[in-house]
Amino acid sequence: MTAHPDFNRPKGIQRIRPLPDPALGRLWDSIILSGSVKDQLLSQAMLNFSIRGKVDRSILPLHGVIMLVGPPGTGKTSLARGLAHRTAQSFKNGKFQLLEVEPHSLTSAAMGKTQRAVSDLFAQSITEAAARGPTIVLLDEVETLAADRNKLSMDANPVDVHRATDAVLVQLDVLAEQNPHLLFLATSNFAKAVDAAFTSRCDLVVHVPLPDAEACAAILSDCLNGLAQTYPAIGKLAKSADLARWASASVGLDGRAIRKMVANALASTRDIAMDPNTLTSDKLLAAAKAATASRLNVEKKA
Ligand SMILES: Nc1ncnc2c1ncn2[C@@H]1O[C@H](COP(=O)(O)OP(=O)(O)O)[C@@H](O)[C@H]1O
Ligand SMILES: [Mg+2]
Repeated sequence: MTAHPDFNRPKGIQRIRPLPDPALGRLWDSIILSGSVKDQLLSQAMLNFSIRGKVDRSILPLHGVIMLVGPPGTGKTSLARGLAHRTAQSFKNGKFQLLEVEPHSLTSAAMGKTQRAVSDLFAQSITEAAARGPTIVLLDEVETLAADRNKLSMDANPVDVHRATDAVLVQLDVLAEQNPHLLFLATSNFAKAVDAAFTSRCDLVVHVPLPDAEACAAILSDCLNGLAQTYPAIGKLAKSADLARWASASVGLDGRAIRKMVANALASTRDIAMDPNTLTSDKLLAAAKAATASRLNVEKKA
């Protein structure tokens, strides 16, 4: 067996990939958002690599951090990975790489050692990677690393977590000062759980909303057209005038849940499950209604 390319990856880094990576481009294209959020993200990421290093931080105090905030399943992680690809693609000469950090491995695995693990990650692993070339770092679900110190109870959350947040902030300041060829892409499902000092260091905070009716229709259409490549009869459904009805019944679901709802429709009878070409408009509508109703129930209980 040959060694996995990530075999020697440093602790806390889950994955290192060279950019651009066309698979991540497809991910970027698959996320449907209304408005100009994607353009805004890409311009900000490009600006990071075009002007930092040329303009003094006393003029523009950029930290090289962009954060995506929004409910689970709205495409934040996919967007962050896709953004890394699109940014690298915009600079023809740079040898970009994407580092994916696994915050949970830093906190849970090493109780009492989190602060040290965080400092090592930033001061050594990320610094060394950035010395090799322009580097984009995904801090997925960053609330684990930069937890709001005001909301942490000292009983439930050991001092360790407080110190981890402090360490992240200190290291971000050091890296922002020393390394203009670095960009952090952070995601969070719970904006309120992220420390205000972290948020204030972000150059841009983008809210990724639940899809509106128009975006729901586009996601459904993308999903059905994708299925039609394997099950041609589903192509007709994708073009049906009923699309607007399924879409309005889906409002309230996140993008991931919309795609899962289509799978539920395909599983609504054993016959359809065995032959997806027999999926009907009624089954899709019923699945959309059932999914939004159960979502509401879960929210009421929460
Ligand atoms: N706005 C969207 N448009 C299309 N697909 C979406 C959208 N949001 C989520 N999805 C689907 O859900 C999957 C999971 O999204 P993910 O990036 O993990 O969301 P998050 O990180 O916000 O929880 C994506 O791969 C995609 O298939
Ligand atoms: Mg995510």
